[in-house]
Amino acid sequence: MVGVLVGVLLVGVIWGCDCHQKPYSYQYVRREIERVFAEEEANRWLCFVFGICAIDAAYPLKPDLAIVYQWSQLEFDYPSIEDRQADIDAGNFIPGKPAPIDVDVHYSYSPHKKSRVFVAIPRFQDGVPIALGVVTDKKFNSSNVITPYPSWDWHKTPSKCNENRIVSVYRVSIDECQRLWVLDTGRLKETQVCPPQILAFDLQTDQLIHRFQLPKGIVEPRSILVTPVVDVRDAHAKCKDTFIYIADCQTYSIIVYDVQKGVIWKATDKTMYPYPNYGTFDILGDSFDLMDGVLGMSLSPYKPGQDRILYYHAMSSPTENWVLTSDLRNRSRFIHDSQSSPEIFHTYHGKRHTQSAAEAIDKDGIMYFGLMSDVTLNCWNTHTEYGPKTIDIIAKNLQTLQFASGVKVITNSKAGQELWVLTSRFQKVATDSLSTSDVNFRILAGRTEDMVAGTACRGGIPPGPPGGGYGLVKPPFVPEAHHKKPHLGF
Ligand SMILES: *[C@@H]1O[C@H](CO)[C@@H](O)[C@H](O)[C@H]1NC(C)=O
Ligand SMILES: *[C@@H]1O[C@H](CO)[C@@H](O)[C@H](O)[C@H]1NC(C)=O
Repeated sequence: MVGVLVGVLLVGVIWGCDCHQKPYSYQYVRREIERVFAEEEANRWLCFVFGICAIDAAYPLKPDLAIVYQWSQLEFDYPSIEDRQADIDAGNFIPGKPAPIDVDVHYSYSPHKKSRVFVAIPRFQDGVPIALGVVTDKKFNSSNVITPYPSWDWHKTPSKCNENRIVSVYRVSIDECQRLWVLDTGRLKETQVCPPQILAFDLQTDQLIHRFQLPKGIVEPRSILVTPVVDVRDAHAKCKDTFIYIADCQTYSIIVYDVQKGVIWKATDKTMYPYPNYGTFDILGDSFDLMDGVLGMSLSPYKPGQDRILYYHAMSSPTENWVLTSDLRNRSRFIHDSQSSPEIFHTYHGKRHTQSAAEAIDKDGIMYFGLMSDVTLNCWNTHTEYGPKTIDIIAKNLQTLQFASGVKVITNSKAGQELWVLTSRFQKVATDSLSTSDVNFRILAGRTEDMVAGTACRGGIPPGPPGGGYGLVKPPFVPEAHHKKPHLGF
């Protein structure tokens, strides 16, 4: 198995990673092992990042999150050093300022196209030249350079509101149909310079395939659209039955967009509000205030014909909440009153003791998220009641796991699942005390299977029916009545 991995790595480096190549001679592999393992940790991920491969199922080292990329400060793919300097002189780029918030990964299935790692860099401060990019293997000042996506033109002069523009992006979402969904807030710092929009790019062709401007009435002047979650119900057919759920952390709402019908509505509920007692963030001695509502959102796995659950939480809160997507997708509930349906939004009794930003769920229904003041990455099996007894730690590292603002579960080209996380010293960004002599931003990844092994989220026990084997006191959390609801069309 070591052989398979190493073989894949070498081929990946030399010929662009043709993973369908058959086994290598054992001796050849043995000779190469030392060489490969002697190189830095990130090398393990070369194939993974630049080719079409995936981490081999029997990866022999201690399974852990590996650092795929890290930066002291972000650098961008300028055509020349003069262009970079011109952008600095114009104030468009202030080195050290841009702070990435989110990561997403596209595994290419085509041998002619590389797999790509996307990063979102919101323009909530000056000096951010692009809001969305792809990490390249080019280096500037020992940083992996980020190239604008889909091109420089989309990111230049954002205040002009060109038709093809991306102003500011907190998070993105790549769906099962090879589409990259971009949620452009339209905001430059505190100013709404353009209408917010939802964009979709076809990752095979990098062409824009969908654009929707959010109308006034759905967005308010204080709206900040931070998270898109994509719900595709016909991924193996036409990919038309697609809804986007959008977290607005300042109007405390979840916006629902039916892509096929081109209609949009908004659901607001008290469960999406921030809690004043959780408005202060304490991370490793730095403290800042943030009163953000709903931000972390994730969907239960899709099983054809069944309903899905949207889990969500406010950034400045100790609770986890859920709503049946069939209720959220019922437009007639919200069309006249976004607050019409408090009865469909549910909050678990158990709580976290600190804040959490992004969350993601794997195919087995296990949720991944970071806990702010603990500086840990955590898991929770959504088949169980939420709370301290069921939330477990998958990784703790005071240095590398600060502020997990981007969390994704990615299905790789071998159909295995991987956890990808973007962490940053965001407390330093928030307090404007970032030092470029430290590593400030990291992208880490590992296999979900390795992450949950031995935790309460898995513990060797398959995630059976709710309440089984976990010492739970609560009955299954989805009331029987909900299971019986018809799910036609929603
Ligand atoms: C949609 O919501 C309305 C209440 O506003 C309800 O009467 C109706 O039955 C719901 N439709 C479905 C299909 O659940
Ligand atoms: C190179 O990066 C360091 C921080 O890692 C920074 O202090 C320095 O100014 C950078 N040099 C250039 C030429 O940008």
